[in-house]
Amino acid sequence: MVIPTFNARELMLRCLQRLDDPAIARRGRRGRLNQRHVAGARSVAPRPCGIPQLYFGATLDRRLKRAIIRSRLPFKGPLARGYLRTVERYKSISGGHKRLYDANGLPVPSPRLRVLIAGTADPEHFLTSGRAHADYLRELLAGVGCPLDQMDAILDFGCGCGRIARWFSDLPRPQINGCDYNSELVEWCDTNLGFMQARKTELRPPLPYQNDSFDFLYACSVFTHLPVELAGRWMAEFRRVIKPGGLIWFTVHGEIKKVQLDPEEQLRFDSGEIVVWLPEIEGTNFCSTFWPNAAVESMLGSDFEVLVHLDPKAQSATAQKAQLDHDAYLVRRV
Ligand SMILES: C[S@@+](CC[C@H](N)C(=O)[O-])C[C@H]1O[C@@H](n2cnc3c(N)ncnc32)[C@H](O)[C@@H]1O
Repeated sequence: MVIPTFNARELMLRCLQRLDDPAIARRGRRGRLNQRHVAGARSVAPRPCGIPQLYFGATLDRRLKRAIIRSRLPFKGPLARGYLRTVERYKSISGGHKRLYDANGLPVPSPRLRVLIAGTADPEHFLTSGRAHADYLRELLAGVGCPLDQMDAILDFGCGCGRIARWFSDLPRPQINGCDYNSELVEWCDTNLGFMQARKTELRPPLPYQNDSFDFLYACSVFTHLPVELAGRWMAEFRRVIKPGGLIWFTVHGEIKKVQLDPEEQLRFDSGEIVVWLPEIEGTNFCSTFWPNAAVESMLGSDFEVLVHLDPKAQSATAQKAQLDHDAYLVRRV
């Protein structure tokens, strides 16, 4: 007879998986569990593109988030922040503790840092999605006649722990800069990604760079978490640091994310209004902003010309290849 053995951590993980298995939630905690369900609960269910969520717990997480977003409590901000931190810690548990490296020999950040920027500790997702975004950017820029390897300086705004920038380590020419208001993420980049210059910045402008510093600036999954006024101020600051004729690429929650809104919010979105969840905790992953296309264009005004708008709903093949489930805009400083 084979007696299964578990260490304490493994046992805790299995308990957490059981608790969160949607199959168990449906049948009640005492229902029988078969191996197929355990496997399903453990795996990461990648959404068609973009940031995946651990399949288990997603429904409960969504309901709790909704309840917090809808609540009218005076201490909603701290409550939301506390909830977010708890979920992040919980998700980090499943990430293992081995030191990992990517195919280029660059270290992979810890599960906690991966969760902070991608919502999942899955290292595979961290690497493959970052690479897919980076490959998309290379092609996109070459396609508009501005290949990355002919640029002098680029900036990854809200660089997190270098999920995308790490795939530009082979570029000899452009100086690769990153900035983020989270000092822990910036320190990690500084220590582990020697090819880039990472700087800690603040939640609000300005940036510590001279006017006209960069040929290209990208902000992946940052405007998704900024309230409207702050997003507008950042766009104006980007205009200052980008060279005349330089390019900016950024992503937002657009049409494809409308399904996450309730019917009343969808109506507002359809009428061109920007919908913001939890502006109290701007900059965190729990603050979410949903941008109708017209609102993005209005924010850009006459300062920028839109070169490419990737709408994942309309261009699903491109979006899936790039692993993007955000609307993404490539714009040129006029
Ligand atoms: C969802 S994560 C994405 C990280 C990274 N861009 C990526 O795609 O892996 C959002 C990042 O934006 C950063 N961030 C949010 N608001 C910011 C702000 N106002 N200034 C600088 N960084 C910001 C957060 O600290 C976080 O690292």
